[in-house]
Amino acid sequence: MKKFLLILIFTFGFINNIQSQKDYSKDVENLLKKMTLEEKIGQMNQYNGFYDATGPSPSGGDAKKKYDNLKNGLVGSMLNVRGVNEVRAFQKIAVEETRLGIPLIFGFDLIHGYKTIAPIPLAESASWDLNEIQNSASLGAKEASAAGINWTFAPMVDISRDARWGRVMEGAGEDPFLGSLVAAARVKGFQGNDLSSPSTVAACAKHFAAYGFVESGRDYNTVDIGLSTLHNIVLPPFKAAVDAGVKTFMNGFTELNGIPVTADSYLQREILKKQWGFKGFIVSDWGSLREMMDHGYAKNRKHAGELALNGGSDMDMESTIYIEELSNLINEGKINIEQIDDAVRRILLVKFELGLFDDPYRYCDLVREKKITGSKEIMDGALEMAKKSIVLLKNNKKLLPLKKNGQKIALIGPLAADKNSPLGNWRVAADNNTAVSVLEGLSHYTGNEITHSQGIRLVNKIPDGFHEEVQINNTDKTGILEAKEVAKKADVVIMVLGEYGFQSGEGRSRANLDLPGFQQELLEEIHKVNSNIVLVLMNGRPLTLDWSSQNIPAIIESWHLGTQSGHAISQVIYGDYNPSGKLPMSFPRSVGQIPIYYNHKSTGRPGADGEDAGSVFWSHYQDEKNTALYPFGFGLSYTSFEYSNIKLSKNTLMKKNDELTASIKLTNTGKLKGKEVVQLYIRDKFASSTRPVKELKGFKMIDLNPGETKNISFKINSKMLEYYSPRNIWESEIGDFELFIGTNSSTERKASFELKSLN
Ligand code: NOJ
Repeated sequence: MKKFLLILIFTFGFINNIQSQKDYSKDVENLLKKMTLEEKIGQMNQYNGFYDATGPSPSGGDAKKKYDNLKNGLVGSMLNVRGVNEVRAFQKIAVEETRLGIPLIFGFDLIHGYKTIAPIPLAESASWDLNEIQNSASLGAKEASAAGINWTFAPMVDISRDARWGRVMEGAGEDPFLGSLVAAARVKGFQGNDLSSPSTVAACAKHFAAYGFVESGRDYNTVDIGLSTLHNIVLPPFKAAVDAGVKTFMNGFTELNGIPVTADSYLQREILKKQWGFKGFIVSDWGSLREMMDHGYAKNRKHAGELALNGGSDMDMESTIYIEELSNLINEGKINIEQIDDAVRRILLVKFELGLFDDPYRYCDLVREKKITGSKEIMDGALEMAKKSIVLLKNNKKLLPLKKNGQKIALIGPLAADKNSPLGNWRVAADNNTAVSVLEGLSHYTGNEITHSQGIRLVNKIPDGFHEEVQINNTDKTGILEAKEVAKKADVVIMVLGEYGFQSGEGRSRANLDLPGFQQELLEEIHKVNSNIVLVLMNGRPLTLDWSSQNIPAIIESWHLGTQSGHAISQVIYGDYNPSGKLPMSFPRSVGQIPIYYNHKSTGRPGADGEDAGSVFWSHYQDEKNTALYPFGFGLSYTSFEYSNIKLSKNTLMKKNDELTASIKLTNTGKLKGKEVVQLYIRDKFASSTRPVKELKGFKMIDLNPGETKNISFKINSKMLEYYSPRNIWESEIGDFELFIGTNSSTERKASFELKSLN
């Protein structure tokens, strides 16, 4: 029966794939032939929603001008328009009032859920569970598409080694291998097997490329990296997105090695469109054409249009430069019609694939919107994803899980009852205060007595003039005294501290990564009166937790987990869910270590922490260790695992397609059933360019009952050993390798092999 089902699923998926691969090139060409130059350029123009389309049409100013452009077919896409009624109203103008009736494509930042919020992407990546990540994206697509949206500006696949950069919350962390798998899973989740289904949306890999390498972690700052880092670290997740069939790309705000990426023809034309054969279109980032003037690259708006088109940007998000300047540039011979046709073809193709020409209102079904929004399926998916995203950082003397009965619990911290912060940043369509707080989650367990004290208050602020945020108060610490009184009387203290929801994300760089405001003081004060503390962290990035790691017995990294946050955290606290998450980014000991990442180079003067004490001339700090506090891949469980007996089936790979098997024994030595992410790393010992000390090359998620042992194996072949070499190609080189299998990136359990020949 199972087999039959599998065949059915496979066949169905296959048919769906065929459907989505329908060749629309003739339809695109036929339409293109009918279009005037103006109409073509119109397709390359994207506006933000500029009026309430269900109300009266605008009568003056900029909105009127945009409205007229829309009616005249000078708009190809809109962003931030959402809800069936709004989308339908705009679509109606495009379809019924413009000469050719070309439907709009509606883009939206569906980053981690639409109205029902899933964990932030960095948290999801901590699950290492690609099926769950794919499912989470597909549920987000389902909810957003039911609200009229058919294109998401996700996944963000920027690798970053710098937790000061607030946008690490949107990505998959520091590693290109994990990042590539997560990128592909998200693309598949958003787009499904059939892009024309009303439950799927086109995905967008962003920000092409290297945004995660902004200098000093300051958002929008300069990026200057070498070719090796670009190809080996930055580009792989983008390539993985292309291979997974992603329909669109977004460039970015930053420059890369002196060229704003919006105008970078090496990236966009040479690598993406030519070498990778990408057939979809590239949208600019918000106003990034215009910003090339501030970069000191474009003389004026017209010049920015010229540079962007020549560089390969197909659609202009909100600079309005393309519709103003492209026809002038054609007349002046600065750009040519083939470039415009190419861009328009790409945009139209995605619209055809989305099924918008068959039915432009395909995503506009009010009944469906009502039924799907916040449905049980989506809520359940958000909870499942949230539980899997949690990382247990410390659990001394098995303080966790807590007993369910007879305990006095003090629940302390500004984020303990907060129903906003767990939603994190990028939650444009979510209503305020819709997350389950930790207080609410814990209240479902009635056997203990909970007393709650904020310690430090939350305040409402409007930092950018229109957007209200709940922030952690940083002027008043009078609540600490009361919290201490509550803590004194408790058996266990649960402290919920970290970053408020908007403290990470775009424009939210930080120079310090400690617990913001008076939270560290609160923690230390409570610790003085009751050290039996479970620290629950909510944050969008790695924090510096040195003091906590030394003094607090139990630490749960719960990130910003979304709508179901409090339930997921409570289930972990009480042991109804045994955590298995692993960090997708290194947690530094201090900010001065940044950039810190596990796949670093050896240097000519390497050394280990603690080694060479007192000596000076090796690569280290005088006042800090080299290692991360919690390394990439780190995460504990309520049970314990033992690795033993690493073995290779042989020690040499004799030719290109040769393969060896690396295996290890994994035993659950604890008393609970648990899941372990077994990680495989490889080191290329000598090559024609220096190689990282370790690179993740595989992982497996293994469920084990107490006392159970499994033999875990990985196949190794020369393809896995390839890198972008000084010859500017991807290749593997013969020579010696080391292979490590273990519980996180610091594992030293290794074996050696040789790639002898590639013939
Ligand atoms: C700017 C951000 O950089 C980008 O990621 C986002 O998709 C656009 N704004 C649209 O909101």
